Amino acid sequence: HDFSYDFIGEILFSQEEIERRVQQLGNTITHDYRGSEKLLLLGLLRGSVMFITDLMRKVQLPLTMDFMSVSSYAGAESSGFIRIDSDHKTNIAGWDVILIDDIVDTGYTIATIRKLLLDRKPRSLKVCALLDKVERRKVDIPIDYCGFQMPDYFVVGYGLDIDEKGRNLPYIASVDLDKYHKIYG
Ligand code: PRP
Ligand code: MG
Repeated sequence: HDFSYDFIGEILFSQEEIERRVQQLGNTITHDYRGSEKLLLLGLLRGSVMFITDLMRKVQLPLTMDFMSVSSYAGAESSGFIRIDSDHKTNIAGWDVILIDDIVDTGYTIATIRKLLLDRKPRSLKVCALLDKVERRKVDIPIDYCGFQMPDYFVVGYGLDIDEKGRNLPYIASVDLDKYHKIYG
């Protein structure tokens, strides 16, 4: 893989590491949901796209995929106020829902969406996140399936972005913020 961005620091999780971990998560989910007739993987746009499309290939069960698009009000720092930009299409009443995201940071996004989904009466609701930035947590939320815990670095790749850049990298790398600001101001 030759292509990169000029602002990349170091690789935290390689393509191979991610692949192995996603396979393991897929195996676990396959085991846990065997027999479920209504399994829904519900991804949060846009960060979860690469993760959910890899993960769904590793879940060897019949399933449905759906998405919600959400954003936090104003500013880069998560405010705790989450806006639904586009809702899922499945009526999730009676479904076994796994809410999928790339990263849990403050936890506000998952906490808010989880509450909203529970009101819609799924049969079960679990949370699956590839990355968990434990130190940054502001609200306590369960992560039932977690890929990796990580320190408080700014990371891009595998769906994660800095100002919409870097999502297409097949690995997860830190951002060299000095370099980034030199290039983009
Ligand atoms: C990011 C990330 C998570 C959320 C985590 O999404 O993908 O969804 O923030 O933050 P939190 O735990 O502090 O709520 P973002 O809103 O940046 O949009 P994106 O998915 O389109 O990148
Ligand atoms: Mg997101």
